[in-house]
This record gives sequence, C-alpha cells and structure tokens, in this order.
Amino acid sequence: MRDGYRVAVVGATGAVGVEMVKVLEQRNFPVSSLRVLASARSIGKILEFRGDTLRVEELKEDSLKGEEIALFSAGGSVSRHFAPIAGKLGCVVVDNSSAWRMDAAVPLVVPEVNPHAVAAYKNKGIIANPNCSTIQMVVVLKPLHDAATIERVVVSTYQSVSGTGMKAIHELEEQTRQLLNFQEVAPKVYPYQIAFNCFPHIGPFLENGYTEEEMKMVNETRKIMEAPEMRITATTARIPVFYGHSEAVNIQTRRKLTAKEARVLLFKAPGVRVVDNPGERLYPMPIEAAGTDDTLVGRIREDLSVENGLDLWIAADNIRKGAALNAVQIAEIMIKEYL
Ligand code: A2P
Repeated sequence: MRDGYRVAVVGATGAVGVEMVKVLEQRNFPVSSLRVLASARSIGKILEFRGDTLRVEELKEDSLKGEEIALFSAGGSVSRHFAPIAGKLGCVVVDNSSAWRMDAAVPLVVPEVNPHAVAAYKNKGIIANPNCSTIQMVVVLKPLHDAATIERVVVSTYQSVSGTGMKAIHELEEQTRQLLNFQEVAPKVYPYQIAFNCFPHIGPFLENGYTEEEMKMVNETRKIMEAPEMRITATTARIPVFYGHSEAVNIQTRRKLTAKEARVLLFKAPGVRVVDNPGERLYPMPIEAAGTDDTLVGRIREDLSVENGLDLWIAADNIRKGAALNAVQIAEIMIKEYL
C-alpha cells in the first residue's frame, strides 16, 4: 500500500457522492489527489475535502485518464457507459449503481461478507456496490448463515427517501412543509405524496409481480452470500423518513438457532451493533442509525409459527453503510491487497 492514490468521485454532487467525499476524509483514505465529477449542470460547484476546496468538473470520456480508483454514484446509465471506459484506462471503478451488479464477471462486495470476491475486479476493472437494503441485511445474515445455514428469508423494508437521491430528500421536506401549511402537494419524484404516507413500490414493477428493488434483494443476497439456493422473498416500501432504512427480517435455518445464540453471534459480527433490550425500550431505529457506520440489529426472537425460525429488526444509514461507506471499504481492500 502506498501513501496516496489518485481518486475520483463521479456523481460527487449527489446524496451518495457528497457522503463518499466525507467518508474518504473521515477514514483517512490515502488520497494523493481527489477529483470530483458530475454533470455539466454542476461545473464550478465547490466541495470541501481536508480543508481544501475542490471544483466540480464535468464527466467526459477522458476524465478518468490517470486516475487509479473512481467511486461512481451517478446512476445506471452513467455507469453503463463510463465504467468500462474507466476500466480500460486502468482506473478501477467501485460502482454504486445497479448497472453491473448481476454481471457474472463483476464482483458484488460487502467487505464484512465476501471480501475475497474483490479479486475478480481484474475481469472488467469494475467492482459493484450492492443495493442499500441488501447490504444491511447481509452483514447481519452472514454470521447466522455460517452457524446454522439459512434456508429461507422473508424481508419487508421501510426505506427512507435519501435512497432515491437529493431530489427525493427535497420532495419530502417540501411536501411536509406544504401539508403543515394546508397547501396542496404535487408529487414529482414519487408516484404519490410521500409525506405522511407509505407505499409498497420501489422501482418498476416486473412481470412476476415483484418490484425491481425486491428482486435486487433476492438476487444480490444470493450472489454476495454465495448461496444460489437460498429462498428469499421481499416486500420493499418507501416511508417518509429522510435517512436510514429499517427491515423486518424472518429467517429459517437448517439447524435450530436460539435467540440467545444468535445474539452472541451478532455481538461478535464485524460492522454489526446489537441493540436489543426491549425492557429498556432499546431497539434499532433510523434516527439512531443515521450518521453512524454500524448496522443495528434487535428484536431478536424465535419465531412462534415455524421450526427453526428467527425474527430480527435491522436498521442502518442507507447513505453510509448502504452506499458510500461500503464503497470506500471496498476501495480500502483494493489498495491493501491489489493495487
Ligand atoms: P448533477 O448534480 O450535476 O446533476 P442523486 O442520486 O442525489 O440524484 O445524484 C446523482 C449524481 O449523479 C449527481 O452528482 C449528478 O450530477 C450526477 N449525474 C447525473 N447525471 C450525470 C451525467 N450524465 N454525467 C455525470 N454525472 C451525472
């Protein structure tokens, strides 16, 4: 590992991009130069990094020439076009979009779960960062799977608006203000009013009746956990919270796992914090998770209705562990082991 690497953040003005720059600084990532890129709309905008000001540049075909690592969070179409270009220029891309996640040649990595998979970055010069809801679920499921083999997962999510991006954060803020002032709201980002509402609709609906977000949770979990046979079903819902996703997760394991055993395993799990003391009204909540790095798990209990079932409640900051932090952790593995 060297003292400094040439790093670029693509989509640096977005909800995740801004956090990527912040996490690089907070974790003291060895950066010799940092470039921040976005669309032409953002040319000249200023971001701060380690007390210096960085001017946002427009992303162009040759922008990543000479860079070593690029963290992408500018949407699927930007990633589909620019990530292979970067890869060919010798710049390793950690991509937060869904564009490359299910490409068999591209590793899909959560450092606490499958760090070894990073090695396959060599195939295309791209490493995919999973979906936010998937990341926080697999860091909790991994130690339980290793101990007792998870056969089936039933998950329902309660997802904050920041996962959709800056425009959605503004939409919730604006609609909340408007409704408290007895004004009409006009949804733009979401199909319905999000303030004071909840809808089971994230991403387009597919032919099988699931949404794209739900199938991301199914397919990505299997790929990251290297468990193609794991049975998973998901319902994903958007709720009027700014930061932090919550999930109710029910698992069935091959061998019986008591709640106590699960709690002990999760106490030792990297990146996980057990917050599970109902007597003291302690359980994970998005307001606790937001701004922190840990994935919180609580309400750990044995399912009354099936053999070998466990119920869990998980919350994490979707912009940090669900996106920016996970991407920077992947970059940390890259420089330690491969660059
Ligand atoms: P910009 O702010 O210039 O539009 P979010 O997920 O919060 O909506 O952020 C999306 C990020 O992706 C923003 O930084 C946005 O830049 C960037 N982006 C969107 N389209 C492009 C593009 N064609 N080229 C480069 N960056 C883009």
